[in-house]
Amino acid sequence: MPDPIPFTAPRQRFGSSSGQPITRRDGLLKVTGAATYAADNHPAGLLHGVVATSTIARGRVVSLDVDAAKAHPGVVEVITPANRPPLALDPDEKHGLFGFRFEALQNDTVRYAGQPIAFVVAETLEAATEGARLLTPEYEAERARVGLDGGERYENQSAGVGAPPAFSVGDLKAGFAAATRKVEAEYETPGQYHNAMEPHALVAEWDGDRLTIDTPNQAIVMARGLFAGFFGIPPENVVLRSPFIGGGFGSKAILAGPQVLTILAARMVGRPVKLALTRQQMYGPVGHRGATRQHLSLGLDDDGRLTALEHQSLAMTSSFDEFVEPAANASQNLYASPAISTRNSGMRGDIGTPGPMRAPGEASGSAALECVLDEAANAIGIDPLEMRLRNYAETDPATGRPYSAKALRECYQQGAETFGWAGRPIDPRQMRDDAGRLVGWGMGTALFHAPMFQAEARVTLRGDGTALVETSGVDMGQGAWTVLAQIAADGLGLDIDKVELRSGHSELPDGGVAGGSGHTATAGSALHNAGADVIGKLAELAVNDPESPLFGAGNAGVEAREGRLWHPDDETRSESYGEILSRAGMSNLSGEGKGARDPANAEARAMFSHGAVFAEVKVDPDLGQVLVTRMVGAFAAGRIINPRLAKSQLYGGMIWGLSFALHEEAVHDRRTGRIMNADLAGYHVPVHADIPAMEALLVDEEDPYVNGLGVKGVGEIGVTGSVGAIANAIWHATGVRVRRFPIRIEDLIAPR
Ligand code: MOS
Repeated sequence: MPDPIPFTAPRQRFGSSSGQPITRRDGLLKVTGAATYAADNHPAGLLHGVVATSTIARGRVVSLDVDAAKAHPGVVEVITPANRPPLALDPDEKHGLFGFRFEALQNDTVRYAGQPIAFVVAETLEAATEGARLLTPEYEAERARVGLDGGERYENQSAGVGAPPAFSVGDLKAGFAAATRKVEAEYETPGQYHNAMEPHALVAEWDGDRLTIDTPNQAIVMARGLFAGFFGIPPENVVLRSPFIGGGFGSKAILAGPQVLTILAARMVGRPVKLALTRQQMYGPVGHRGATRQHLSLGLDDDGRLTALEHQSLAMTSSFDEFVEPAANASQNLYASPAISTRNSGMRGDIGTPGPMRAPGEASGSAALECVLDEAANAIGIDPLEMRLRNYAETDPATGRPYSAKALRECYQQGAETFGWAGRPIDPRQMRDDAGRLVGWGMGTALFHAPMFQAEARVTLRGDGTALVETSGVDMGQGAWTVLAQIAADGLGLDIDKVELRSGHSELPDGGVAGGSGHTATAGSALHNAGADVIGKLAELAVNDPESPLFGAGNAGVEAREGRLWHPDDETRSESYGEILSRAGMSNLSGEGKGARDPANAEARAMFSHGAVFAEVKVDPDLGQVLVTRMVGAFAAGRIINPRLAKSQLYGGMIWGLSFALHEEAVHDRRTGRIMNADLAGYHVPVHADIPAMEALLVDEEDPYVNGLGVKGVGEIGVTGSVGAIANAIWHATGVRVRRFPIRIEDLIAPR
């Protein structure tokens, strides 16, 4: 790989830390319990908050027995719309990264089950819980609008976060007219919930008009600004700490009513207040993956080449906000077709607003797209992998632009070989194991954007040969703490043990968003550039100092490694950072850097991570019980900084794909609009026994355009491709095509 950043000044090297499969630097802290999460904070005088939530999905709260709650000896304050102090911003306006509205007790209206209707503050958690119970709300309930058949259609102005709802390229009509075959199918995906291990929590402490907040958040500096806005104070007055996060998956990029109410309560009572949502309370105010119904139409020639691809999705959203799952967009950038049309329509219902959840758009959209491709392969009578190869896009079908890099062919090849795909029978129900179970093999293509956001970083070289590197962006548990330190270490020419990383604090340089699979690329680039900045300054000092062995070397070509600067032409001439600093009379030296995409590259290239997932299932022919027995994924995502942690991300995604295919579904009671399985007992996620032997292959890919590091993301792509691979394997085992997720036993033994 060519030197990824065109340095005119000293060279940084890759390779001493980057590429090493080192274990998580925060692992010991986590397994010993030394890592503190938001709810672990107990400032002196702490009170406990509990949100009282609505049991109806639509209507209004007619009465709350505030006197009864206040009569409880432990209860300190009860906040309802009747006594809620004003906020400086209106929660009914659009706020934050995603432009969401929310409930902060602005009135007595109920818009979904689980919505906050009061906030109780007490000396203990038990008293606050009791107090909330004593409120015994009475409601005026209206019929809840539930589900894709029970909601209200509306003209949505956007899909996802502000994207246009519809897209087309080429002439769809002409494409279908040119087709000799047409394959059409409709798929459904349910509402799914993030279910991070750590529920949303917040500890708020005021000191005059200064505020300290402990809360898990994926975009700390942005969140700080928004919290400050709600309380009419400057952002500098707010400190937001989020050193460790127990999973976010998109839900912790959202600022929601319960968090604002906790801060408000702390100001009202003049003492710190802590709130931790219960598991049940996370099914409502903090986002979810909206349910979809997706209709796909494929025009094909006799060889299975696409002449037209139409993907229409209808997705559930709330009655008051606009987030429409952009599932149809999954068909824009993957398969070559002269005509592509996608549309994401919205359906309003009485639910909390959905939001981004791990691979938003692609997870649901790819599930449908990969299944319909499989259906098409079967209709034509060719192997599903051959089907993908015949429709391989050499340039981005949506824009015609070249890909910045695309090693998808290698993913197909390496994945298929490792899995042993060759010789797979075309027809279903052809394979059995020794126990007589039906065996099936399926595959799917994985795709996810390789975005970059904006981030800043600061690095400080210290006289003792160590460095402090700082950027606010958090580690949600994915390994950023380790990977960012690896990038920083290489940028500084230091061993990773010499690098101390600080993140997860709003006073640090703005690390942007940990999300969208763009955190390593973005914050990593900022750290790398900050390293270049400080090494440049250091070399400046050395080459201009007659006492330095580097004197007169000229800045270009001086190399930074092993904590020393090296003369470009003479290996015997080098000097440690400490020596250079000390002679200059400095105890330390800082540099700064930004991470963002080069706009020229962004204009010229389509940037994606790619992959191919292969799955084997075994199905009991009588009971319809499905066991996934093997999964192999092969992924190309540019430079891999840490193969161990990248694989761990990909395994997580593949497991989530299995979970999507077979387990997850939030079930609504149509009478009340409540979610009936709002806990981890009723809402199924896979356990160890559900997870097969799994392999994630990291396919070499050099991407000189995506950013100077050549890094794409691995966080979300694993979900995509995996859902379809499993559904397709189930079809291959049983001959039953299930078009509604999750795939259940009853779908297989009594197909509808
Ligand atoms: Mo994610 S949905 O980018 O946390």
